[in-house]
Amino acid sequence: MHLCYSVRSSPIRAPCARTFYSDAMLSQQELKQQAADAALQFVDEVAAPDVVIGVGTGSTADLFIDGLAAYQGRIRGAVASSERSAARLASHGIEVFDLNDVAWMPIYVDGADEIDDHLHMIKGGGGALTREKIVASVAEKFICIADESKLVEHMGTFPLPIEVIPMAREAVARIVRLLGGTPNLRAGFTTDNGNVILDVKGMRITEPQGLEKVLNDIPGVVTNGLFALRGADVALLATQSGVRRLDKPRHAWPSLARPRRCGAPARRLDDGIDSRDQPLQRRPRLCRVDPAEGQVGGDAFVQPCRLGPQAAGAAQRIARRGNIPAT
Ligand code: 5RP
Repeated sequence: MHLCYSVRSSPIRAPCARTFYSDAMLSQQELKQQAADAALQFVDEVAAPDVVIGVGTGSTADLFIDGLAAYQGRIRGAVASSERSAARLASHGIEVFDLNDVAWMPIYVDGADEIDDHLHMIKGGGGALTREKIVASVAEKFICIADESKLVEHMGTFPLPIEVIPMAREAVARIVRLLGGTPNLRAGFTTDNGNVILDVKGMRITEPQGLEKVLNDIPGVVTNGLFALRGADVALLATQSGVRRLDKPRHAWPSLARPRRCGAPARRLDDGIDSRDQPLQRRPRLCRVDPAEGQVGGDAFVQPCRLGPQAAGAAQRIARRGNIPAT
């Protein structure tokens, strides 16, 4: 067992492959294994015969899936965020559920390509971003597992993946260029949903939540790889000296997993529904744009968030084209 330490929460213990006092540097693969093993502690906490958990995609998620083999019979099964993960789960005898048959999961465990200390992430290096976002949205707690190289001060060095309906590829790419990004079609790759991926370099990500919304509002975009509106709740980052746990800053984003009354003051939405009567996951339209202030947001549940100048300009242009109603 390896003592893990925490920055914003109590220390945790997690099983690790190596001892604490080994002189040899751990390889990236060994670090991924440590992070994956540490996440099994969360499975221990929720394991019950009727519990289904969410499982991500990628090399770190693969190691977590391998660890789940020991939980056969202790959990009911899992929902996978990709065909690849579904096949791996099944190979270990873990029953794979269709998300349509699962209303709620206690945890979703997945890797990341970049994560900042707000636990916002870039994901989608493996091309499974859309299903990852969907499965994560039904989970109470998002647990990100990664080696420490994924922790960054500012996201954006890793090209931001955007899943796009094939016929919209060039139309989306033009708008992404207006936003300051350089999109590249991921060659020879089709997502599990039959779409293409644009990997976008050079994007300044100063306001991840605002940019996530702006990108998702471009017609033809299925989703983008920013996980900022709903980031991770816990990050388990393997370092040479143990697994470091980071917890989501308090009140950073609401959990979408459970219906909940909105605490926002009463306010009429466009469709005339009182916001207090809406459970959180039944969100109204994504956002409105205030061109004067460059703000995106403003519905009853999403706090307005300021965009950097580039995103604000792009949001204004999208608004002028009528894709988002400007207020
Ligand atoms: C797949 C993902 C992965 O979680 C991300 O790419 C990290 O992968 P890995 O664990 O192999 O480093 O988002 O779409």
